[in-house]
Amino acid sequence: MDHEVARTLPLADWAGPFMPEDQDAALSALEAGQVLVLPRLAFRPLPEERALLGAEALDQTRKNISLDPATGALHGTSLGADQQAHLAAMLGRFAGQAQTLLHGLLPRYAPALERARTSFRPAEIAGRSYAPRKDDTRLHVDAFPTRPQRGRRILRVFANIAPDGAPREWRVGEPFPDFAAKFLPRVRAGLPGQGWIMQRLGLTRGRRAPYDFLMLGLHDAAKLDGDYQAHAPAASLSFPAGTVWLCFTDAVLHAAMAGHCALEQTFHLPVAAMVEPNRAPLRVLERLAGRPLA
Ligand SMILES: [Fe+2]
Repeated sequence: MDHEVARTLPLADWAGPFMPEDQDAALSALEAGQVLVLPRLAFRPLPEERALLGAEALDQTRKNISLDPATGALHGTSLGADQQAHLAAMLGRFAGQAQTLLHGLLPRYAPALERARTSFRPAEIAGRSYAPRKDDTRLHVDAFPTRPQRGRRILRVFANIAPDGAPREWRVGEPFPDFAAKFLPRVRAGLPGQGWIMQRLGLTRGRRAPYDFLMLGLHDAAKLDGDYQAHAPAASLSFPAGTVWLCFTDAVLHAAMAGHCALEQTFHLPVAAMVEPNRAPLRVLERLAGRPLA
């Protein structure tokens, strides 16, 4: 791979203070489609939370446990009420720290940044088998069938909290514009009225724009292309336990290959809040398609 997939900063405190040069480096790395790695920043579970980090906390039909920021409800767990309260508190604390980090490190984004769900991913990735579209060991950009973004960015903060020290292993692919140019000719923007009908039927929260159909199409087309998965340019990244990393997962082609016990906080960001909105997948796809998509 001839592009740098990651940028590392030695930040050691979620709340800063952050040097202006670190703020600039973080912003430009993220907007350029790099993974920002913070090896000195760790999320530390409390003693009463450590017992909850096993895969048995997971409802076995689910990939992860999530905390809804609007309701405070925990989804995807088979734990009893007391333990659920501890787990919800841990996810809430991580969400707060992630938000503090982004507000301090990326002050330009702070007024526009919207906190979405928090997830805990206890189960070991390696050796699981999923249908190809749901298989996150295949390179993909994030796009979700029920949650249209209409161009909004998806910025995610991850922490590896594996109690046994197991690293989380990613592969990261080529820059989004290169990927999109290859795959866009194969995907469709939805039929006229389709986004409206899906919303009316309750299949989506909010209405899909052509952008959402194309991003889902890119997500699926990449995962279903065995040749691309086997031969596309990709670099390996290993995140040791006690590491934090973040990236725009709607633009960074990523695959999670191994590891367990990761925390993840999702934020949404309007394209207009970026320093270089032309780097947003929305703008990249609009240039390739030659028309507005959201
Ligand atoms: Fe993903």
